[in-house]
Amino acid sequence: KLSACIFDLDGVIVDTAVHHYKAWKRLANSLGFDFSEHQNEQLKGVSRVRSLEIILALGNYVATSEEKEKMAAQKNDWYLELITQMTPADILPGAKAFVESVREAGLKTAIGSASKNTMTILMKIGMDKHFDAIVDGNKVTKAKPDPEVFLNAAKELNVNATECVVFEDAIAGIEAAKNAAMRCVGIGQPAVLTEADTVVSSLAEITLEEVRSLSAYTPK
Ligand code: BG6
Ligand code: MG
Repeated sequence: KLSACIFDLDGVIVDTAVHHYKAWKRLANSLGFDFSEHQNEQLKGVSRVRSLEIILALGNYVATSEEKEKMAAQKNDWYLELITQMTPADILPGAKAFVESVREAGLKTAIGSASKNTMTILMKIGMDKHFDAIVDGNKVTKAKPDPEVFLNAAKELNVNATECVVFEDAIAGIEAAKNAAMRCVGIGQPAVLTEADTVVSSLAEITLEEVRSLSAYTPK
């Protein structure tokens, strides 16, 4: 039985990766080193604090926790500057229509994201009323691949975890779904998202009927 669909935000509903990348690159450059788009792949789905640690390690830069706090805040200011221009045109292909088809079928919808900017972004793209529950980076203590974010979403929706399907573009997010005993649709490349139950390039490429037909999770 399928009761709910839980969506990651960045990379599934909206294309924010390039803005995160530009802001992190600006930070790295301000510290005297560079940060490539390829290295940015490692940061998908990863929390702000953890992302900073990865970047500092790449640049062999040692910072005190006070400095790190300032750097994370600076990166976020630059990121917010970049997303002020975000509009409904930045919604990824098929995302809005798919979420609407889920609701029309009488199923519940939720966001399960690491981002503390989730509400800001949902309002900018006009999708803040599309979800029955929003579990974001302000509500969780453990980052993906810990299942906390998705388990909390199921709890808020009042459904069993095994009756949820997660939509994720990040390896850490797919692992989090598996750790929550949820089925998972990968959004991206099959060669990268090998642990997903199925992989499509966008939400335009899958129907609710196909999602329903994914075999229910069976505990090992
Ligand atoms: C994830 C993104 O969804 O959220 C990461 O994939 C990002 O790139 C993380 O770092 C935290 O987001 P924010 O908006 O709280 O800095
Ligand atoms: Mg993501």
